[in-house]
Amino acid sequence: MTHIGLDIGTNYTKATKDGKNVTIFPSIVVYGEEKDWSLTGKTKDVYVGEEALNIAQSLENVEVFRPLHEGRIIHESYIELARHAIETLKTKPSVVATGLPVKSSRKEREELSESIKEKLGVEVLIFPEPVGTLAYMNMDTGVCVDIGFGTTDMIVLSGMEYLKGDTMLMGADWLFDNIEVIIRNKAGIGLTPEELTKLIVNEDYEIGRIRSGRRITIKHSDIEEEYIKLMRSWVERIASRVKLMLEGLSTAIVDNMVVTGGGALLPGVKEAFEDAFKEITEIKVPDNPIAANALGYYRLAEAIMKEEREEKSESETKETKEEKKEPEEKKGKGKKK
Ligand SMILES: Nc1ncnc2c1ncn2[C@@H]1O[C@H](COP(=O)(O)OP(=O)(O)OP(=O)(O)O)[C@@H](O)[C@H]1O
Ligand SMILES: [Mg+2]
Repeated sequence: MTHIGLDIGTNYTKATKDGKNVTIFPSIVVYGEEKDWSLTGKTKDVYVGEEALNIAQSLENVEVFRPLHEGRIIHESYIELARHAIETLKTKPSVVATGLPVKSSRKEREELSESIKEKLGVEVLIFPEPVGTLAYMNMDTGVCVDIGFGTTDMIVLSGMEYLKGDTMLMGADWLFDNIEVIIRNKAGIGLTPEELTKLIVNEDYEIGRIRSGRRITIKHSDIEEEYIKLMRSWVERIASRVKLMLEGLSTAIVDNMVVTGGGALLPGVKEAFEDAFKEITEIKVPDNPIAANALGYYRLAEAIMKEEREEKSESETKETKEEKKEPEEKKGKGKKK
């Protein structure tokens, strides 16, 4: 029995087959476009991940699918992301452990599980997203805030049991939408979230487009000041929602407070959280916030499968013991008669 940890995010899909190495690609699907010429001789029906991103960034007339939006699966191309993850990992799992937003409905979870099972022929385990990171960090009691691209998910666990949680339909996308508007107004060009991330994260990044016969470039320094202002008010909004969730909780639980997801890696975010929670607790960030959920799902699946194996072998030993016992009893009864 093999299993994988799979975290299909709004912006990135992350997957692991060993609980150590994580494959990551953009959650993008492009269905094959008809080209007048193909110089490589290759034509494909569906492009996923990096390949799809290249097409999306260099051609304007193709239909680009980002199958997740605000924590919901909005397009069936979702399954292509799962398939691509499995193919990239070069494995044939029998179990896929994955996550959905805390406030997803039971129906959504059932549908997701059914569709993966039917189309990929695997068993499915679904966890509330931030639980992955807590499991990865070996914490069974604590608070975790997962700032993704489309949603921010928060959860409180005590002894690995769900106490409460919430999903905010505001992730890094809110920040990026605002910065994109600024860039559009300044330079008249649109950028993909992947390009915006590079522009914000790398100090010497520069990005260009040809517009109306001219070369237009945007540099990190062009947006830095606006970014810091927007980022602070964004963190403030998330922090106040987290504080609402923490109201009344025991301080013992809040001692483990983790901020994860790619949002935790954006410049200044950890510091802004530390500032917002300085009266309450310290902020911990996992060593790999983007991959931590996938790694945690892997661990959880491993533990569940181990438990199942043990239960199975226990009941098998019991059965063989009973089988052995039965004929003796019968023999005994026979003798009595
Ligand atoms: N070095 C980095 N590489 C990629 N993304 C980064 C980096 N640093 C920060 N980010 C941010 O992390 C975001 C992706 O985070 P993450 O993978 O946790 O989101 P997601 O899981 O796709 O979204 P969601 O959980 O909302 O569905 C990017 O949109 C980007 O803003
Ligand atoms: Mg995520």
